[in-house]
Amino acid sequence: NEIYLQGLGDVLPALPTDLTRLEALAERRMSAQAFGYVAGSAGSEATARANRAAFDRWRIVPRMLRDVAERDLSVEVLGTTMPAPILLAPIGVQSIVHPEGELATARAAAATGLTKVLSTAASYSLEDVAAAAGDGGRWYQLYWPKDRELAVSFLERAKAAGYTALVVTLDTFTLAWRPRDLDQAYLPFLRGIGVANYFSDPVFQKAVGGPVTDANRDMALLHWVANFGNPSLTWDDLAFLREHWDGPIALKGIQHPDDARRAVDAGMDGVIVSNHGGRQVDGAVASLDALPAVADAVGDRATVLFDSGVRTGSDVLKALALGAKAVLVARPYAYGLALGGEAGVRHVLRCLQADLELTMALAGLTRPDEANLDLLVRDH
Ligand code: FNR
Repeated sequence: NEIYLQGLGDVLPALPTDLTRLEALAERRMSAQAFGYVAGSAGSEATARANRAAFDRWRIVPRMLRDVAERDLSVEVLGTTMPAPILLAPIGVQSIVHPEGELATARAAAATGLTKVLSTAASYSLEDVAAAAGDGGRWYQLYWPKDRELAVSFLERAKAAGYTALVVTLDTFTLAWRPRDLDQAYLPFLRGIGVANYFSDPVFQKAVGGPVTDANRDMALLHWVANFGNPSLTWDDLAFLREHWDGPIALKGIQHPDDARRAVDAGMDGVIVSNHGGRQVDGAVASLDALPAVADAVGDRATVLFDSGVRTGSDVLKALALGAKAVLVARPYAYGLALGGEAGVRHVLRCLQADLELTMALAGLTRPDEANLDLLVRDH
């Protein structure tokens, strides 16, 4: 109602309420390198296209006369109560997109009450982002580095700064073949931006001979790349995480039901069905197509979350009906950040929440947990 009655004109006249239009607008405003970093996916980008196409194969069947006057979209996910089943997916080095980067995103998330998942590869330190988030929900996403001492340092810092849940991204121990980044020399471009969350870490600083300055910046960047992920990790290594993190843990990048079962057997609290927005394995299954089997394998033993391709309220609702407790979105808010900083991110989050609420009510639902397979039919 607020959006309909007041319009958005006084806030951000240029930003549309159809979030699928943001990418084209952002392309005109962003540098080619920044746009390529956000919009780009792996290889021929077939997986990114498949992620979107998968939503169109499911259709909502609205139900009538169900008294939907009182609606409550709030959910509790891994110990965090949120006003809608939507989280901000981790996005690294957001200073590429806007100078205020993760600080602006954290403020916008806090203003809407939604939880932001902070990337290890943040362009501000996790402590600075925590301060910007105020009372806002905060989760930490770990890229598990080769150096275990560094991994433990991240976990201890995150705990001390009040991050409550840990997301461990498994699908990106190295960057995939991403032509847009390769063609535009992405890593040298990062030299001017840095990765403050690593550069501010005491264990990282010890490894590069002290605080990162202009003198050792290139060396620090190379050390970061060399340490970024660990391709030799196995399921057995999860016990190490459990030892060093006593809050909830969700594994991000799960696509196969057997991997989901292994995650639950290893004592994980959640899985995030995700193909990293199509940025890792070109030709991979659409993330939405992987969701039902994973949800089935997990049952009520752990929390199932979903991302990759969510752009509208009906996308969120379809993912909930197919078994997700909540979804994460990435690119839409990155474009909001590019186009309007903190206010741009807020715009995206408010629109998505409002769209979800209207779509749910018009489909006959008052609460997210009422969404199930009865709501959907396959289009073909
Ligand atoms: C990402 N993603 C990501 N994931 C993660 O675990 N850590 C990270 O640092 C990043 N960084 C990142 C940067 C950019 C520019 C994008 C677009 C994505 C993946 C992200 O969290 C999420 O899984 C997908 O992007 C979701 O798909 P959509 O919403 O972008 O389609």
